[in-house]
Amino acid sequence: MKWRNRVLGASLLLAAVGCVSGETQHERGEALYGYCEQCHGDAGQGNADFRTPAIAGLQDWYIEAQLQKFRIGARGDHPDDLDGLRMRPMSRTLATDGEVALVSAYVASLDPVDPPDTMVGGDPVAGRVLFNTCIECHGERAEGRRDKSAPSLLNQSDWYLVAQLHKFRSGIRGADTLDTTGIQMRPNALALENDQAVRDVVAYIETLDN
Ligand code: HEC
Ligand code: HEC
Repeated sequence: MKWRNRVLGASLLLAAVGCVSGETQHERGEALYGYCEQCHGDAGQGNADFRTPAIAGLQDWYIEAQLQKFRIGARGDHPDDLDGLRMRPMSRTLATDGEVALVSAYVASLDPVDPPDTMVGGDPVAGRVLFNTCIECHGERAEGRRDKSAPSLLNQSDWYLVAQLHKFRSGIRGADTLDTTGIQMRPNALALENDQAVRDVVAYIETLDN
């Protein structure tokens, strides 16, 4: 997976920005990531105190798509989206599409780090049943499916997954007309009946981590 991401990222980058002389693409991506580190951590592990998600090892196509959404305001632009509003200006420090691709490939190449569990009160057995509706897009083991534009949900902080499901439910995320993939996710979050159902499905997803 790691190598596939790297090879794919590298070929896309060659097309996007041409050869960068001296530094390798990976080093350029690493240098750009220096700015992100203060919030997402040196290993991309996220930070509950800063409310930043783990991003290490996420699929490069998903990272790139999210950074582009933040840049154009399709995500992180709603007045009630306090965390998204903090990320949005950070995405705009990336000056070009080439830089977005470089930093995305670098983050995707990092080994995933499973953040500690923080959530209480979720029932993974009930969550397993609810997760059946998610499989079509996120895959049997929540590994993500590129053809559905749906990311891996593995090795992610439980509080972040809960927060995003609530955002999709309230329309803070996935309701912008520019957000064509978020719009596909929204009805699935709304189909979760209540807060307990959100906690249950997240508790099940957490059991799938290594
Ligand atoms: C000031 C702190 C801060 C900095 C610096 C920062 N981020 Fe973020 N980032 C956040 C927060 C907060 C979120 C969560 C937004 C939300 O809840 O929707 C986030 C979300 C993300 C996501 C979405 C992950 C997902 O699973 O959907 C990606 C990708 C991301 N950041 C990448 C980056 C990159 C790359 C950089 C450097 C260019 C960066 N961030 C710099 C705070 C930051
Ligand atoms: C029809 C396809 C589809 C189904 C079914 C689906 N999702 Fe999604 N999901 C998506 C897509 C596409 C995204 C990425 C949205 C974006 O680009 O912002 C997403 C994003 C997410 C995110 C945000 C991840 C992150 O890193 O920010 C969570 C959490 C999530 N889905 C959970 C679920 C759960 C739980 C279910 C089942 C109850 C589910 N999804 C069902 C398509 C789907």
